[in-house]
Amino acid sequence: MSEPARISIRPPSVCAGLKAPATKEIWVTINWAKCHTRPVLMIPGPTELPYPVIHAMSQPPTIQYDKSFDEGVLEPTTLALREVFQTKSEVLIMPGSGRTALEAGALSVIEPGDRVLVVGAGQFGILMREIMNRVGADWTEFPVEWGARLDLDRLAREAERLRPKAITLVHNETSTGTTYPAADVGRIAKSVDALFLLDTVSSIAGIDVRTDEWGVDLNMTGSQKCLAAPLGMSLISVSPRAFETMERRKRKAGSYVYDLLRWKEWWIPVSRGGNVPDGAARRQPVSIPTHLTGAMNVAVRLILEEGLPERFRRHAVSGAAMRRGITAMGLEMFPDASLLSNTVSCLKTPTGIDPAAVVTRMREQYGILIGTGLDKMRTSTLRIGTMGITASPLYVLPTLSALELALRDLGHKCEPGAGVAAAQAAFADAG
Ligand SMILES: Cc1ncc(COP(=O)(O)O)c(C=O)c1O
Repeated sequence: MSEPARISIRPPSVCAGLKAPATKEIWVTINWAKCHTRPVLMIPGPTELPYPVIHAMSQPPTIQYDKSFDEGVLEPTTLALREVFQTKSEVLIMPGSGRTALEAGALSVIEPGDRVLVVGAGQFGILMREIMNRVGADWTEFPVEWGARLDLDRLAREAERLRPKAITLVHNETSTGTTYPAADVGRIAKSVDALFLLDTVSSIAGIDVRTDEWGVDLNMTGSQKCLAAPLGMSLISVSPRAFETMERRKRKAGSYVYDLLRWKEWWIPVSRGGNVPDGAARRQPVSIPTHLTGAMNVAVRLILEEGLPERFRRHAVSGAAMRRGITAMGLEMFPDASLLSNTVSCLKTPTGIDPAAVVTRMREQYGILIGTGLDKMRTSTLRIGTMGITASPLYVLPTLSALELALRDLGHKCEPGAGVAAAQAAFADAG
């Protein structure tokens, strides 16, 4: 810990020839965070933004229904997002966050009484279950011990027994730092002819997400994590099968704004399966935020310029380096070793050290913000994001350094620099 130190201050002499003023002694404590105006965001989202994305938001306002915005910004953004989602289907963007996409998806395809099988492996599986509850689904939870593997054979048997209309999965459980085998769950959904609803809030653009190849009908996410765009946009890709399901509904969906069928009717041109005559102006079921769309446009351009394989590898190497650093400090990862996420590292805090105290110390003394665990893991785990631009040595190494300093301040013993050294080696090994 940086202890207060006694330093001497000698005021400058006023003019030559006069006796110099007396030297004064004062006590000072260094706060390494104070010279920065904000903490660096190493929480699992929202995350740091590339400078061109920030710059895209400091523009004068434009009109959301103006042709120039529609043709110049909105359309190219949604088309580019298809590449990021790895889909030929439509990607809709709407104001909101990840939860907006989850709710819009659920309320559009599920009618009261429809059977839904919800894989519940953490806090965000519970969120999906609660949303299904609200839309009146006859849901069954497939519980998975937090941080543990998903028993695919048992899931397949449960799907066969229930024959649900939809199966839901959280690809990357942000609460536990685990990545689940979405391709396998997609195969199970297909085998029972169920829709496959996938939450990719903390994976899209950081971990390989193959919407079409995995048979994802609704791929639901938010802007503020690995897409490295500002918080405030909700994104959802909708398969033709999901639109057909909406068309077969007995009753209209209970939301006017977030009924995705209305988006198809108002937003998508006839040539792409929608109802808007080609060349005609489309309508917006909800007013689209122009600044956020402009920022998303730049964020997606940067992603595609980097290249998806390169980006996934960058996240994989950074996640692995973070984990090597963590374990070199004598700490243990929370999840099963086969499920470790490349975008969220969830680690157990040493016995006797409160995760909240680590977070406060890192933020207030060293200027880096990480997160505690959620819900029942709040008092035993910490979570660190490596998302977008923070999946890099530029962010991983200082975070490990601050984590080590904070833990040492709180009484944890480990070899100085062990975490940073191990992570550096991981980056070096990756070439
Ligand atoms: C996996 C997952 N699903 C859903 C959400 C909810 O997203 P939002 O906070 O953007 O509404 C989060 C947020 O962290 C998440 O990590």
